[in-house]
Amino acid sequence: MRNPSPLARLLLRRQIAELAQEHTSIEQMRTRMAAERRAAGAAAIRAQEQERQRLAQDLHDEVNQALTAILLRLEATIQEAPPALQDELRDTKRLAGQAMEELLRLSRRLRPAVLDDHGLMPALHTQVRDFTEQTGIRATFHPQGSPTRLSPEQQLAIYRVTQEGLSNIAQHASAQRVRVELSFVGKTVLRISDDGSGFARRKSDRLGIEGMRERALLAGGHLSIWSEEGAGTRVELTI
Ligand SMILES: Nc1ncnc2c1ncn2[C@@H]1O[C@H](COP(=O)(O)OP(=O)(O)OP(=O)(O)O)[C@@H](O)[C@H]1O
Ligand SMILES: [Mg+2]
Repeated sequence: MRNPSPLARLLLRRQIAELAQEHTSIEQMRTRMAAERRAAGAAAIRAQEQERQRLAQDLHDEVNQALTAILLRLEATIQEAPPALQDELRDTKRLAGQAMEELLRLSRRLRPAVLDDHGLMPALHTQVRDFTEQTGIRATFHPQGSPTRLSPEQQLAIYRVTQEGLSNIAQHASAQRVRVELSFVGKTVLRISDDGSGFARRKSDRLGIEGMRERALLAGGHLSIWSEEGAGTRVELTI
């Protein structure tokens, strides 16, 4: 092959330099876009938490008060009511009491005040225990190592990922056993494993798993999922 002339070599070198320059700009743009997307995701999650907090407060302060008033009035009415109506009124009071309990549970789910009041470990213990009580699926919590300092955002991420992980198991897995592990040996790892139906491909228009990923990123960690049809599912949040 003939040697290229000095001019051709110069042009070629210039073209290569231009291409390299373009490549660098594209990379910079991609990094900027990824950062912007992350910031938008973080802002959306923060806004969602604030909205949930407001809703929880309203439910707790307004609706709960109204229900308490109904319960008190019913109690007073029962005292005065003719015997024929007593049973009916007691039944109504029981239903109002159930509605109030349900409401307080909802309000707790919306805003994990339990995190502020008692800290992450008791909050997770309670979540796992409630899950078993509500679904009948045997779930156990296994902390490992001594808890390291986690920021409020990281604790919230662990709490919310556990919530969505357990809710997915209740909705989709038909599982018998569930293990929730939180290890502080080396990195902080939250692991939720079930022995249920597993899944090969997940529906793309759903928000649950996407939300867990966003929360993981926001907490400076990442989320991994292993699942196979018939072989259960494992969700891991590493921080
Ligand atoms: N533990 C699990 N066992 C079996 N299938 C699961 C499990 N977790 C997730 N899936 C499958 O992955 C899909 C996506 O889960 P994802 O949480 O993103 O959405 P979803 O639960 O269907 O809806 P939502 O947006 O209300 O969370 C589910 O529809 C289900 O098919
Ligand atoms: Mg879900």
